[in-house]
Amino acid sequence: MSEQAVVGRVLSVASECVPLVKTGGLADVVGALPKALAPHGWDMRVLMPAYRGMVEKLGAAREVWTGGDVFGGPAIVLAGRVDEIEVLLLSAPHLYDRDGGPYSASGRDHPDNPERFAALCWVAAEIARDGLGDGWSPDVVHAHDWQGGLAPAYLRYRGMAAKSVITIHNIAFQGMAGPEKLGALRLPYSEFHADALEYYGQISTLKAGLVTADAITTVSPTYAEELMRPEFGMGLQGVIAARAALVRGILNGVDAGTWDPAADPEVVAYDARRLKKKAENRARLIAEFGLDDVPGPLAIVVSRLTDQKGIDLLPAVLEDFVAAGGGLAVLGSGDPRLEGAMQAAAAAFPGRVGVKIGYDEALSHRMFAGGDAVLVPSRFEPCGLTQMYGLRYGTLPVVAATGGLADTVITANPMALAAGTATGIAFHPTDALALGQALRRLCALYAQPDTWAAMQRAAMRQPVDWDASSAAYAALYAELLA
Ligand code: ADP
Ligand code: GLC
Repeated sequence: MSEQAVVGRVLSVASECVPLVKTGGLADVVGALPKALAPHGWDMRVLMPAYRGMVEKLGAAREVWTGGDVFGGPAIVLAGRVDEIEVLLLSAPHLYDRDGGPYSASGRDHPDNPERFAALCWVAAEIARDGLGDGWSPDVVHAHDWQGGLAPAYLRYRGMAAKSVITIHNIAFQGMAGPEKLGALRLPYSEFHADALEYYGQISTLKAGLVTADAITTVSPTYAEELMRPEFGMGLQGVIAARAALVRGILNGVDAGTWDPAADPEVVAYDARRLKKKAENRARLIAEFGLDDVPGPLAIVVSRLTDQKGIDLLPAVLEDFVAAGGGLAVLGSGDPRLEGAMQAAAAAFPGRVGVKIGYDEALSHRMFAGGDAVLVPSRFEPCGLTQMYGLRYGTLPVVAATGGLADTVITANPMALAAGTATGIAFHPTDALALGQALRRLCALYAQPDTWAAMQRAAMRQPVDWDASSAAYAALYAELLA
């Protein structure tokens, strides 16, 4: 960023960031924020662990920080640019240079995860206090999820001036550690009580962030409200409700350049005025999944296969959906039980249900272009990105009315249809009965080509980019510094 344009500097502290490493939407958001905030004058750098092989991806790296004892070994911070993002990689081989993913190897969590992410947060606080070797120092530290939770805590407990924000992307993960780790995690024993670090006899690094940050955000307004209720707060509802004045919900955006059916290299180009071209993508997708002719709506699912996502509800509704003409293409991986259930569904409805187990970014683009509808039957969904890709591609979202799904999809009720504003179907509660009813409505709407096309056009008009949300983050940082 040019110097005179800068209104403030933000250190984003996260465990994943596109394009370097991604296990879910967190990485997309962390990677999108620096680019979205730059036009507002906020200079954001992303501090994250240098997992194995990552330094090589950084290009021309400069050493900007050195530490002798970072939770059991020496560490350095390397600065470099990746895809227009200023990245700070914490290279600490004793913590991060190992087999497996960011959090686990061969299905088991790394046993030292508390230390691994405490180290990241500790270094964030050191940078906030002393700045980097190149003279850069942050005004605001913006931590993400439990992995960043200790950054606001160290700032507070060590009496540092930088302001802090913590964003909850998913409260299901709370960063638990045994109380015997207090010393190892460099946390004050005096803060181990119910109003601070202690959570059911253990340390929760997410709670630590929630009780010490100057502001709390979550990734949709509805999730911000849900989090204060026992059904969604997962035990932390009281902690969040007690700090309600500091909580705000800021919807995620999607990268409108990457997700653009008119310019997507994976698809036959189309837009709201050339919807007929979408049919070519549909035919290709049917072939790619080995399906037969699908007379009704072709639904897609692109998802982690976990309980959160309500994937287990699909088998119960497929018989009716297929009988009504529907087809389904699933791309996902995760829980072996759900992978098995999806493969069994494909075997039960050959030619109508196709399943690919795995992670495939390019295929996901072809699916959004070729599908008629995208199913997101989540039990809870802090924001969700795939329903927004669906809107961009005129692939109508069928979603559970929860969290960010409720905030982004305008359900096809009679008024919305009459006004021409409906963009999908939202159902409640998240159970097989309501999902089955939603799919029946989907088939009925699909059988009315004019109504369907009007919904597609309304969906494609929705602003799902970062414009409004980046302004909201910029305003929040400015308030903290005022
Ligand atoms: P979550 O972070 O809870 O998994 P989101 O909807 O916020 O949910 O983000 C998921 C991201 O991961 C989206 O970008 C989605 O397209 C992508 N994704 C999930 N599973 C797959 C897969 N099997 N192949 C390709 N992309 C996937
Ligand atoms: C989490 C949530 C998802 C959200 C993503 C990015 O993974 O499960 O709903 O979109 O974070 O904020």
